[in-house]
Amino acid sequence: MASKLIIALALGLLAGAATAYVTLNVTDPSTPQATQTAGRPAIGGPFSLTDTAGQRRTEKDFAGKPMLVFFGFTNCPDVCPSGLQTLTVALNELGEKANQISTLFITLDPERDTAAALGQYVKSFHPNIQGLTGTPDEIQAAIKAYRVYAVKVPDEKDPTRYNIDHSSFFYLMNANGAYTKHFPHSTDANALAKAIAAAL
Ligand code: NI
Repeated sequence: MASKLIIALALGLLAGAATAYVTLNVTDPSTPQATQTAGRPAIGGPFSLTDTAGQRRTEKDFAGKPMLVFFGFTNCPDVCPSGLQTLTVALNELGEKANQISTLFITLDPERDTAAALGQYVKSFHPNIQGLTGTPDEIQAAIKAYRVYAVKVPDEKDPTRYNIDHSSFFYLMNANGAYTKHFPHSTDANALAKAIAAAL
């Protein structure tokens, strides 16, 4: 019984992931104009979150500069650290130009990623990467705005632990906060640096 349930759950998750992936691709063609729906970008939008110093930050604080937005969580075993490492290499490659873009790492795990925990975590990557957390509702609103797929998955062996299954794209937004393009977390650092440079 238990294994059947687990298989059913796993299939459900896979179906969910596939749907989210397909949805993102359908609503996210390479032509930026096509992502506009009634004048509003399909990806991105207002958010109200807390930075690692405990200060309230909204999209207005980042206006006037392009923005690269990445969602994840500090307990992520591999996807998030490798994505952030790629971003670090790309920002290092950009040198001083890295200051011309805001790079935001928004947590998908507000319960464990407090401002302090997130601050500790982002410190190990490029200094320009800013961590943002918030209440579960605030994080949920940001997840919805960026069309991120994120599902909590309980640890089978230890019910007190959990993982988060999530899509992981870098979203490149222009200085007006409008979606420009996205890259998978596995993107090449050099390609990412070039795309950022082209957006400045
Ligand atoms: Ni992750």
